[in-house]
Amino acid sequence: MTTTTLEAEAGVRARLQFIDPAGPPPVALVKPEGDGQDEHTGRYEYREVLVHDARPEADRFTLDKDGFAFGRAPTAVRNFFDAEEVKRIYYPEVAALIKRATGAAEVVIFDHTCRIDDEAEEESRRVRGPAKIVHNDFTALSAAQRVRDLFPAAEADARLRRRYGSVNLWRPIRGPVETAPLVICGWETLAQDDLVVSERHYPDGRIGRIYTVAHNPKQRWLYFPQMAADEIILLKCFDSATDGTARWTAHGSFQDPTSPPDAAPRESIEVRSMVFF
Ligand code: OGA
Ligand code: FE
Repeated sequence: MTTTTLEAEAGVRARLQFIDPAGPPPVALVKPEGDGQDEHTGRYEYREVLVHDARPEADRFTLDKDGFAFGRAPTAVRNFFDAEEVKRIYYPEVAALIKRATGAAEVVIFDHTCRIDDEAEEESRRVRGPAKIVHNDFTALSAAQRVRDLFPAAEADARLRRRYGSVNLWRPIRGPVETAPLVICGWETLAQDDLVVSERHYPDGRIGRIYTVAHNPKQRWLYFPQMAADEIILLKCFDSATDGTARWTAHGSFQDPTSPPDAAPRESIEVRSMVFF
């Protein structure tokens, strides 16, 4: 008999969108922001999982063990939809935060994405909707490609000889988040065999590669209900270390069956970075 049943069951049952590994190779044609949903090949399937409420253990997660961390970090940004303001004020804030959280020698922010869980707003404000498919932003190989895209060849080579990685910082633009919360499966319950390489073809011709995720009952999914605008999640999307350190996680969003009918649509921003040790 276990004594933790009640605690372990706290959460919501929700459907997450997984890849069916028996389907054709997944390729996404990424639309410019505001041009609607990306087009996908590949076979996807919704599976119902228990999404644990991670608030009771919020302080226990670490980037190196779990591949994600939760925290509180106020910001001086007033308008996250103003890309100039985000680059000028938010990027330096986030770089400092990720540097502190990882102990990296250098953090290079390379882009950000604003999302609104409302298709009309998505189009009129030229932002993305929540990510419906659970994924990780890099594969074991594509993070190195991103370093090569960011730096001249010789410098990239030098950087790739040392430990490097990628970390996203996610936050609600306004809180509390009432729809489409971020859902995460940490490093410890995500098996390499669950990951399927998926190509992303960008409007500028670049081809990126991410992991999409096949359902596995061993995965433990969790979320932080009702996130406030001064709460953040750090997501490890890659780590070149192979000594047992968390290298990545899986994440996406889900339709929360407990959302009130008049819930305000989720608005969020995630900043992507490469970290160099
Ligand atoms: C991310 C991401 C999904 C979402 O932060 O990398 O995929 O719906 N977010 O916010
Ligand atoms: Fe992502």
